[in-house]
Amino acid sequence: MKVRKAVLPVAGMGTRFLPATKAVPKEMLPVVDRPLIQYAVEEAWAAGIEQVIFVSSRGKDAMADHFDRAPELERSLREKGKDKLLQAVENASSRVGDISMVRQDNPRGLGHAVWCARELVGNEPFAILLPDDMMWNRDASGAETTPVLKQMVDEFERLSSSIIAVMEVDPNQSDKYGVVDPMGEDGDSIQAKGLVEKPPAGTAPSNLAVIGRYVLTPRIFDLLGRQGAGAGGEIQLTDAMAQLLKEQSIYGYRFKGQRFDCGDKTGYQMANLALAMEQTEIRQRLLPFIKQQLPGWSA
Ligand code: G1P
Repeated sequence: MKVRKAVLPVAGMGTRFLPATKAVPKEMLPVVDRPLIQYAVEEAWAAGIEQVIFVSSRGKDAMADHFDRAPELERSLREKGKDKLLQAVENASSRVGDISMVRQDNPRGLGHAVWCARELVGNEPFAILLPDDMMWNRDASGAETTPVLKQMVDEFERLSSSIIAVMEVDPNQSDKYGVVDPMGEDGDSIQAKGLVEKPPAGTAPSNLAVIGRYVLTPRIFDLLGRQGAGAGGEIQLTDAMAQLLKEQSIYGYRFKGQRFDCGDKTGYQMANLALAMEQTEIRQRLLPFIKQQLPGWSA
């Protein structure tokens, strides 16, 4: 069955970026010239997703406005002949009905946020994108890769099983992630025999961490509906996936591309730097500036 819908949990408070996120949703913080949320939505569209579902909360309306048309702004840019900017503004607008919103009444965890979208997703496989995890379609050598969610949708079709993005992380960081207990490998995918949310360092079953991209079967909604609180007292998606494993196979997929943890100030700066360097006009001035500053910074 085709993966047509994507759920984007965007209800978080963004406390790590306070005070910047006091009145502005963290998903609206820009990486160079686009807000974080736009990268995730564009990645979903590039994977053939037809409907994006935001699981949102109070104070996050700027995100809905961002993907709406802006007729006055568009007219003014057109009249002034600012075609490139007009294109950029139009690119951010969704086709009518492509973006839906549902609210998470209480911050009860990622699993609960996903469960809030159950009626809008219905009985079909769907994707989840956590916008804090920004996926850059460049590998370590700088070569362009297929957008990550598209790779995963293809893998879902190949294996007819739920697929979750994984990457190797420092074992000391296992308490920040869901971790896969691996079984056999099939190409770039690793079959999971278990999944643990945020295991303390030294107790993790592997160093394969779950990254915020998932393609899941709708059975997860029934399991989420019954899932009790787990790590951090929250309803965890990882715990419901561990239940799903008892009935269906799940594969961890080693994606091609780079991930920036934009929920963290350092990762967010790395994303800005990497994407800024891609734009010739910025790179020409930024690179000499960095070189000039380096001796002072390393001191
Ligand atoms: C969430 C998931 C975790 C996953 C991580 C990826 O955690 O619960 O399993 O590894 O995203 O970024 P969070 O970062 O919301 O604490």
